[in-house]
Amino acid sequence: VAKNPSINNNYEYIGKIPLLNSSTKSLPPKVYSYIEECASLCCPKDIFICDGSDTEYEHLLNFLEKNGTISPLPKYENCWLARTNPADVARVEKRTFISTECKRDTIPIPREGVTGELGNWISPKDMDKAILERFPGCMKDRTMYVIPFSMGPVGSSFSKIGIEITDSAYVVCCMRIMTRIGKKVLETLGNDDFVKCLHSVGVPKRDSKIEINSSWPCDPERTIILHRPDKNEIVSYGSGYGGNSLLGKKCFALRIGSTIAKDEGWLAEHMLILAITDPKGRKRYITAAFPSACGKTNLAMLKPTLPGYKIECVGDDIAWMRFDQEGRLRAINPENGFFGVAPGTNCITNPNAMKTIFKNTIFTNVAATSDGGVFWEGMEEEISDDVEITDWRGKKWTRGSKTPAAHPNSRFCTPIKECPVIDPDWEDSAGVPIDVILFGGRRPEGIPLIYQARNWQHGVFIGASMRSEATAAAEHTDKVIMHDPFAMRPFFGYNFGHYLNHWLSMTEVKNAKLPAIFHVNWFRKNADGKYLWPGFGENSRVLDWILRRIDGEDVAVDSAVGLLPKLGSFNLENLSKDVNMEELFSLPKSFWEKEVCHLREYFDMQVGDDLPAAIREELELLACNVDKL
Ligand code: GTP
Ligand code: MN
Ligand code: MN
Repeated sequence: VAKNPSINNNYEYIGKIPLLNSSTKSLPPKVYSYIEECASLCCPKDIFICDGSDTEYEHLLNFLEKNGTISPLPKYENCWLARTNPADVARVEKRTFISTECKRDTIPIPREGVTGELGNWISPKDMDKAILERFPGCMKDRTMYVIPFSMGPVGSSFSKIGIEITDSAYVVCCMRIMTRIGKKVLETLGNDDFVKCLHSVGVPKRDSKIEINSSWPCDPERTIILHRPDKNEIVSYGSGYGGNSLLGKKCFALRIGSTIAKDEGWLAEHMLILAITDPKGRKRYITAAFPSACGKTNLAMLKPTLPGYKIECVGDDIAWMRFDQEGRLRAINPENGFFGVAPGTNCITNPNAMKTIFKNTIFTNVAATSDGGVFWEGMEEEISDDVEITDWRGKKWTRGSKTPAAHPNSRFCTPIKECPVIDPDWEDSAGVPIDVILFGGRRPEGIPLIYQARNWQHGVFIGASMRSEATAAAEHTDKVIMHDPFAMRPFFGYNFGHYLNHWLSMTEVKNAKLPAIFHVNWFRKNADGKYLWPGFGENSRVLDWILRRIDGEDVAVDSAVGLLPKLGSFNLENLSKDVNMEELFSLPKSFWEKEVCHLREYFDMQVGDDLPAAIREELELLACNVDKL
């Protein structure tokens, strides 16, 4: 194992704990006190301040390899495979809490006898209790890593800084890919406040029923993810898995981020950001909110099949957006890497991702091939028939086996800069100007390929009404259609009703040039259960219609649900497959009647008095329109 050359032997101490590789002098006083506080709670063996250097990264990778947490993938350049404990494979929504004095600041009060689905609240007292039941001594005999990180380009006025304290070297390596970390960040921070992020993989109770291997320590039975928005504080225990442990992402950039955004008058959203250049050379930016595993990463890197179009990627998961002085909505991607779903990714569905992910990547829970590569469902054509496959649990796997080779929520963690279609302005500290916002979900029935909101209020209603078939990104398993407003249901940092008011209030921003809002659905199926729309690269045809629409071409016609493409306005030239456009755009009355019922019940049961009148108005208008179908 390579020695980290930056480690010196004349330790300084924080409290009684040796500081491995840095000087306390380099630490702003507030950072020092936070480290001291966490160290006295968790009692680590030593403390390691991450500087973000290449040597440090190599040192940590070596350490993880030695422990059996990761193994090298010699087929590629600097790529690694991590296998988690099978009990620690996805975000855990039921164990994710927001803590505020007043419950209603966090969640709307559901109708009596109904379980709230718009987040989990915990009292500050119970949060403290949960911490004290888990954290004291939890890092015993292990190193505590301190990661100064910036969400957004270091120094941009959009950006926010956090300090993550963790006992997982895997988390450090992934945070190094997903965010900007290290010295520069501490220098920029100075003695300002930061988001406090404490993470431990935990130590299971002695009578734990879950088999824990030493290569992936975790405590699934007591996993808990806690947020305290009024103190900008995140505490995560028991899971090493991405969304639960890379605290810059969902916890900070979305949950804490959305509460900061509300207070400061901007938006923190679960959205991709892409640039699209049309055949006339005009470049526009689009954001899109789809629920987890519903196509954000795919669309963000899309290779258009329509000639003359170019798509470049700014981000694939999170957008921070605010109106500038001129009233333009500007967005940055606060992240520095992709943490993307692996299964389904291949040279046909996402060729640009395939060009991105085979360098400097950490894969988690994918299958391995005997020639030192990776495999997942959807990669059948990309590997030769004679290689042997080991599944995500490390067992021999044969083609045609009943269990999947890769876990359905297996992921690649890759630096954004590896993406061949990254937008040259992706790190612009002023953000990129947004013309269009898309909402969408996985809807096998009834929802047309594309329709447009008539105005901002209608658009906010469409976002609020989003539903989608459950995916493997969280613990849900059935193929039920779940409500997932704004694709934010698992990520709201505060009361969804207040969130809707915040979105509605954007019309009051001075000079605001409000983006046009659309709803898309790539996933509609016919009676045989086959997708009606070929999707992927062909989605460029939908984007083409959207751009022509915002350019004022006469291509739309009003319908019960919003503006639909005029007959024949949709570019179907050279479309490889026969597509039943009539079925794809049909609005079955009985379906929409049921949809209106679902929405009414959801808003009544889940949002109640916190539902803005404007949203109720839009629902009644939709109900009325559907009646007339
Ligand atoms: P998170 O990263 O979890 O937030 O999800 P995501 O929205 O980035 O999801 P991703 O792009 O990884 O989508 C994953 C799944 O959607 C894969 O199974 C894809 O094959 C499927 N998918 C994406 N685009 C399309 C499409 O246009 N048509 C169809 N049929 N499937 C698609
Ligand atoms: Mn996501
Ligand atoms: Mn993604």
